Amino acid sequence: MTNYRQTTSWGAPVGDNQNSITAGSRGPVLIQDVHLLEKLAHFNRERVPERVVHAKGGGAHGYFEVTNDLSKYTKAKVFNGVGKRTDLFIRFSTVAGELGSADTVRDPRGFAVKFYTEEGNYDIVGNNTPIFFIRDAIKFPDFIHTQKRDPKTHLKNPTAVWDFWSLSPESLHQVTYLMGDRGIPATWRHMNGYGSHTFKWVNEAGEGVWVKYHFISDQGVKNLSSDVADKMAGENPDYHIEDLFNAIETGDYPSWTLFVQIMPLEDANTYKWDPFDVTKVWSHKDYPLIEVGKMVLNRNPENYFAEVEQVTLSPGNMVPGVEPSPDKMLQGRLFAYADAHRYRVGVNHNQLPINRPKAAVNNYQRDGFMTGNGNGGGSVYYEPNSFGGPKEDASAKISPFEVTGVAASVSYNADDHYTQAGDLYRLMSEDEKARLVENIVGAMKPVALEEIKLRQIEHFYKADPDYGTRVAQGLGLSVPEAVK
Ligand code: HEM
Repeated sequence: MTNYRQTTSWGAPVGDNQNSITAGSRGPVLIQDVHLLEKLAHFNRERVPERVVHAKGGGAHGYFEVTNDLSKYTKAKVFNGVGKRTDLFIRFSTVAGELGSADTVRDPRGFAVKFYTEEGNYDIVGNNTPIFFIRDAIKFPDFIHTQKRDPKTHLKNPTAVWDFWSLSPESLHQVTYLMGDRGIPATWRHMNGYGSHTFKWVNEAGEGVWVKYHFISDQGVKNLSSDVADKMAGENPDYHIEDLFNAIETGDYPSWTLFVQIMPLEDANTYKWDPFDVTKVWSHKDYPLIEVGKMVLNRNPENYFAEVEQVTLSPGNMVPGVEPSPDKMLQGRLFAYADAHRYRVGVNHNQLPINRPKAAVNNYQRDGFMTGNGNGGGSVYYEPNSFGGPKEDASAKISPFEVTGVAASVSYNADDHYTQAGDLYRLMSEDEKARLVENIVGAMKPVALEEIKLRQIEHFYKADPDYGTRVAQGLGLSVPEAVK
């Protein structure tokens, strides 16, 4: 390996990178050693704020290939034309832990894909679960507070966790999922990914459908038992990062088959579940899985910070053919991510190589911290103009939709939080049920107030009497008579 010349960040050669400039061999350090000053100052600024959620993660590059043309449902180029390949970057993560936290904890896993499509970046920022704990963005900061550290003790606080969940029964379905076997995936390669929300697809003719995404692991689904996961968290807290890196490095490229569920727009008015409620799934019998294509991960990041830490994934990054649904969580997320990116990475985050679209970017945005794309040079910087600047394209307008009703703070109509959670419980084998109950009992034991435990037992009981009774027994309590 041949060495080449070291320079400062302003490109001048560095004369000495071992010894600071001092007044004599023992003298104080001179302020004129600008290389030293720059080196220390830059080091002090090496950290950007970690993501407020999903801080710990890993990522990889890959591609998506269409195996089944779905242009009758969407004009999104990434899903059109069998054989069409689109480059992508994926980031996997845990939700609650900090940057250095262990990978094998019981937590949902982020599953966030950036497709560098020919019509701009399309991001599907989902989880390894098809549902979520809450269904209105206004509850998200409170929910996350309960998952993070207690402000006084700086410890995790199970009382806060179960207080919030027991007072937010819409969480029951996701809690059942999380406390079951799928709560700790064996590796990121062995879990499925879901867009979770309902989105709208629109075709060339302007016709829409509702759609849900399912990335099904070609490696199969495998999970870790709580005991093994706890042990791994101590022995190798970066196990999931390492597993993905090594698999790709040795050419064992993981892949997922992407399926969608498609719902005609009008069904949203009559379907037995509100299709925009992210705490519920659509039955596969009612809306079967339709294959779209394959996602393959085949290249590790060259630099963790530049790629995994600086990637900015947002449900708001959509392309023609994909539009939001009225899901209240999704609507809140359309604001939250771009706002987080402007704070965490900076207003020009989309100019960084990992985020830069492969499609040409032509707009009238100028200036701001860390402008790195030439800033439009001398080209016209306002619109409309008479100088041939970039123009809007009416074919990219959203598909019009009707809105009715009175503006107010309204909850979802449906408040059956029990049927789907109970169905999930009843689907489990006896062994799975036993492990689920054991995990829940272990997690709820430290809850400080009996009132919270009883309230949560009531929810389990309403989902399935056997479920509630077994959790109550495990906690040394009885199901309240009023609930039976
Ligand atoms: C990351 C907010 C719900 C999946 C984040 C970040 C914020 C956030 C601020 C950090 C972004 C960054 O700094 O780059 C919210 C809000 C939600 C919500 C306000 C509810 C209204 C959800 C849901 C899912 C999800 C329902 C999955 C279905 C993710 C993932 C990441 C993330 C995967 C990590 C993205 C990455 O790898 O960079 N969320 N979130 N979030 N969120 Fe959410």
